[in-house]
Amino acid sequence: MPRAKLFAVAMFAAIGLAGCFGGGGGRHVIGESKAYEASLFRQNCAICHGPEGDGKILDDGMKVPSLREGDFKAKTENQIYDQIANGGNGMVGFRRQLSEREMRLLVDLVKRDLRGQ
Ligand code: HEC
Repeated sequence: MPRAKLFAVAMFAAIGLAGCFGGGGGRHVIGESKAYEASLFRQNCAICHGPEGDGKILDDGMKVPSLREGDFKAKTENQIYDQIANGGNGMVGFRRQLSEREMRLLVDLVKRDLRGQ
């Protein structure tokens, strides 16, 4: 009997931890999202950053960083906005293709949904 109880406690802890650290549940999935900013991402960003923003290596060997994890260069909202608007270092700038509002939506997507900040 005590063993069964211990098992139950361990299970609860495991489920609790999985819940906290994503374990699938916490990860925002762009591919399944119907939000407008998710469709913007699929159209404009996925080709380089991957369909879920995990980053990828392009055919020409260019390494595109993950937008979800790692050491981010663009840390603040303004830096992320700047990167999207002006690009740089292999990334194209989007200020001619996207409206101010669309770029702001993408900043939110990166910061809130992908980085969880
Ligand atoms: C042509 C390929 C390409 C496209 C398209 C592209 N990116 Fe990038 N992106 C890059 C590369 C390469 C970097 C790394 C730049 C650097 O190292 O300074 C980058 C960096 C970034 C960063 C900064 C990451 C960090 O370290 O903080 C953000 C945020 C970002 N991209 C968002 C976007 C969004 C949002 C879109 C769509 C609107 C997009 N990118 C489209 C190639 C691309």
